Amino acid sequence: MSHIILPKGWNSPQREITPETVYQNRREFLQLMGFAVGGIAGALLPESAMANTGSFGLFDNEPSRLKTDFPPVPNLKRNLDYPVSRPISSEVAALKYNNFYEFTSEKNKVWENVDAFETRPWQVKVSGLVKNPLLLDVDELIKMMPIEERVYRHRCVETWAMVVPWNGFAFSGLMAKVEPEASAKYVEFTSFYDPAVAQGQDSVVDLPWPYREALTIEEAENELTFLSTGIYGHQQPAQHGAPIRLVTPWKYGFKSIKSIVEIKFTDSRPATFWNTLIPNEYDFTANVDPLVAHPRWSQKREKMIGSGDVYATQKFNGYGEFVSHLYL
Ligand code: MTE
Repeated sequence: MSHIILPKGWNSPQREITPETVYQNRREFLQLMGFAVGGIAGALLPESAMANTGSFGLFDNEPSRLKTDFPPVPNLKRNLDYPVSRPISSEVAALKYNNFYEFTSEKNKVWENVDAFETRPWQVKVSGLVKNPLLLDVDELIKMMPIEERVYRHRCVETWAMVVPWNGFAFSGLMAKVEPEASAKYVEFTSFYDPAVAQGQDSVVDLPWPYREALTIEEAENELTFLSTGIYGHQQPAQHGAPIRLVTPWKYGFKSIKSIVEIKFTDSRPATFWNTLIPNEYDFTANVDPLVAHPRWSQKREKMIGSGDVYATQKFNGYGEFVSHLYL
C-alpha cells in the first residue's frame, strides 16, 4: 500500500532504531518523508507506476501456506437489493491483497503477517450517547443480529477495486438496539491496539494508533452501512479485519475500519487515523468521486484485483441512489 511512503523497514523488528530526536513529532516526520504541503510529488510513485505495482491475477496457481479453512456461515442468504454488474473478485486475490497497516504497509504481505493475531474471543463495546450501551463477545453480537450476505463494490483510494460478498448485518440494526440519544451526531469506530502482534503499531514513528474512523450519524444509519463478520460465505479472515469490520461501499476503503473493538456515539466529530496524519490527502467524508483527484492519483479509473479489468470510476462508487441525498 502506498497511502504513505514509510521508510524502508519501518515495521521490521530488525530495523535500525532512529534516534528519537530525529522524529521529534509526526509533522516533522511527514515533512521528512516528503509530505510537506505542496511538496509530496518528488517522494512518491507516479500514477502510472502505481497502476502497475499489484500482482493482480498471479496468485491462483501459486503454492502457498495461505489459510483458507474458515468456518462457514450457516443458512446465509444473499440480500438482492444491492446488485452489482461486475463479476465477484477472486477470493484468493482478495485474501492476498490487503491494506492493514497494523501489520505491514506491503499489501501483498499482510496475509503472511497475521498468524499471531488472535481474533477470538473478542469483545466489542458500544458506548457513548446511547440509551443501551453494550459490552459483549463478538459471537454473542452475531447471534443477536440477522446475518445476511451483501455483494458490494469496494474502491480503495489507491485506485484498486474489488467486488466481494460480505456477510454481517446492517449497522442500522445495531443502532435500533442501542438507541442513540438525540444529541449523538457522529459514530466513532476504534480498532484494536496490540503492538506485540501487530508490528506496524510498534513503530518508532509516532502514528496515531489505534486506527480510528468515523461517520456522521446519518451516514451510519444509511441502509448501506454494514458491519461485516465474514466474507465469501465464511467467517472473516484476519487480513480482512476479523472478527468484525465496517463496510461503507460509497466511500474510499480507508473508511472501512477493520477489527473493531469499540463503537462510540458522540456529539463532536472524532479525529480519524488518515485524516489526522495527512489531512490534505484524506478528508473526513471520503466519498468516491472520479472528478476529485487525490494529490497522488487521478480517481477517474480503477483496476480490479484478480482480473486486472479497468473500469471508469463512478460517483459514490455507483451507490448514488442510496446516499446522494445525504450530501445535498
Ligand atoms: N482498518 C485498519 N484497522 N487498518 C488499516 O490499515 N486499511 C483500510 C481499510 N481498513 C485499514 C483498515 C484501507 S486503506 C482499505 S482499502 C481497506 O481496509 C482494505 O480492506 P481489505 O484488505 O479487506 O480489502
